[in-house]
Amino acid sequence: MELLRIRLEKLFKEAIKNIRPDFEDWGKLVLQPATDEKFGDYQTNFAMMASKIFKQPPKMIAESLIAAIPPKKKLIEKVEVAGPGFINIFLNKKKLAETVKKTLTENWDFSHIKTKGAVVIDYSSPNIAKPMHVGHLRTTIIGDSIKRIMKFLGYNVIADNHLGDWGTQFGKLIVAYNRWLDKENFEKNPISELERIYIKFGDEAEKDPELEELARAELKKVQDGNEANLALWKKFVGITLSECKKIYEYLGINFDTYYGESFYHPLMPKVIGELVNKKLAVESEGALVVFFDEKENLHPCIVRKKDGAFLYATSDLATIKYKYEIYKMNKALYVTDDRQAVHFKQIFNIAERAGWKMEFVHIPFGVLSFNGEILKTRAGNTIKLADLFKEAESKGLSVVEEKNPELPAEEKRKIAKAVGIGALKYSDLSQNRTSNIDFSWEKALSFDGNTAPYLQYSYARVQSIKRKAAEKGISLDFKCKISLESDIERSIAASVARFPECVEKAAELYKPNFIADHIFDLVQKFGTFYNSTPILKAEPKKMQSRLLLAEAVARTIKTGLELLGIETPEKM
Ligand code: ARG
Repeated sequence: MELLRIRLEKLFKEAIKNIRPDFEDWGKLVLQPATDEKFGDYQTNFAMMASKIFKQPPKMIAESLIAAIPPKKKLIEKVEVAGPGFINIFLNKKKLAETVKKTLTENWDFSHIKTKGAVVIDYSSPNIAKPMHVGHLRTTIIGDSIKRIMKFLGYNVIADNHLGDWGTQFGKLIVAYNRWLDKENFEKNPISELERIYIKFGDEAEKDPELEELARAELKKVQDGNEANLALWKKFVGITLSECKKIYEYLGINFDTYYGESFYHPLMPKVIGELVNKKLAVESEGALVVFFDEKENLHPCIVRKKDGAFLYATSDLATIKYKYEIYKMNKALYVTDDRQAVHFKQIFNIAERAGWKMEFVHIPFGVLSFNGEILKTRAGNTIKLADLFKEAESKGLSVVEEKNPELPAEEKRKIAKAVGIGALKYSDLSQNRTSNIDFSWEKALSFDGNTAPYLQYSYARVQSIKRKAAEKGISLDFKCKISLESDIERSIAASVARFPECVEKAAELYKPNFIADHIFDLVQKFGTFYNSTPILKAEPKKMQSRLLLAEAVARTIKTGLELLGIETPEKM
């Protein structure tokens, strides 16, 4: 089904053509949701934007436009001119009701969005060799949601986990493995033994800085193809990666590719060759360096060190070249914290100069703290994700025990996970991505605020109404009409019908919180409706209308939460 905004745009285009057949500057026609319900459903400032071209005062343009709107479809109830020439559009209530009804049987049509080419989204991308910790949480959750949103809009999305699997951490592990391994423990629980010796390395290296040198040498051996070291490297990658994959599976997060830095290693010489040929990389004190135009305000980027080693930037450049050639990628998105902003500015600039043309977007996010405390990534003072998830489930369980103690244990466990993990994800995604955020279970689980459990509960409530109806032998009748009797019903309908627009907005700015805000607002309206309007006790026609409206709300909540990677249990 076409979006309301698109349908309105078409009507306005016709109207504009009626008064100005030669008009072409369609960028000037922007329809926006009204800032307040008293201004209608949509607003446009087209008359002001076109005043110069039309050589007429905005008010006059607005008035002639209104007169020229084709009447036939009755989508518009009334149009008003406000202030210096704003056009306020009020939708017809019946059309709105029909639109809501259609959401129950049709998908939204996003064919107006230009989605050509592949979109590669790089997120999570941990440096493996150690367990994942809370420092990996935001990129993983935000990246997954952006991926879902882009897919929903019809983009060809490739989710890539650019594993840090080629860095110094492996040199450290090799040194540690050769010196301090407890073989028995390693057999029994490889990941925890690797973690133990990794921490041990850190402690020992503080006393004996030479160990760092040794680690670099061991890593160099890996990169130069030394068999023994390569075998160890493979072993470590295998163990830690399978541990990461368990975490992704638990979170319901999937990647299409896991091309780590090691994958690009063999491609590096070619990339360097191309940068040199294009006179981008030049020799400087034995290293190969790319310099930037003064106006870029970027410090030079080393792409090959004096000793021949490649760097983080080189591997990103190789990745871009590879994906440009293999996927014809035309959007490259990177979700990392703000501290990598300069790195991405550098590589985007180099890639553009190298002729790998596409749209590059760095999607940064702020710092995550727990109860006011910022956790360092250094092992020892951080929370491992696996531990955080256990806590999430137990917090979720206490919510279920309170709301619905008589459910069977297995069902309770499933709901507990959905609630706990949902609360964790939502407390991130409902906030502006670039803000620093502070997490606390108390806030995340509250039923009076903008939280996942509150939204999930509203969804479950509709399911419970349907179950009660079924007990009375009543089911949803899709042949019935929705009629919007009260103001709150109309307002709910407008919110359901405008849902796809918040998804577009979220995609445009790479900010999932637009979806969270929209769903939260809808759920609050639904709460008002639910508390004031009988559903199952109403006479049959009204009951069906209200049931259908409630169903449309529930499905919108479900879709919205799905786009945030959050489950909606049927009972809570
Ligand atoms: N492995 C890096 C880190 O943990 C993040 C990688 C982000 N992606 C990229 N293509 N550079 O900081």
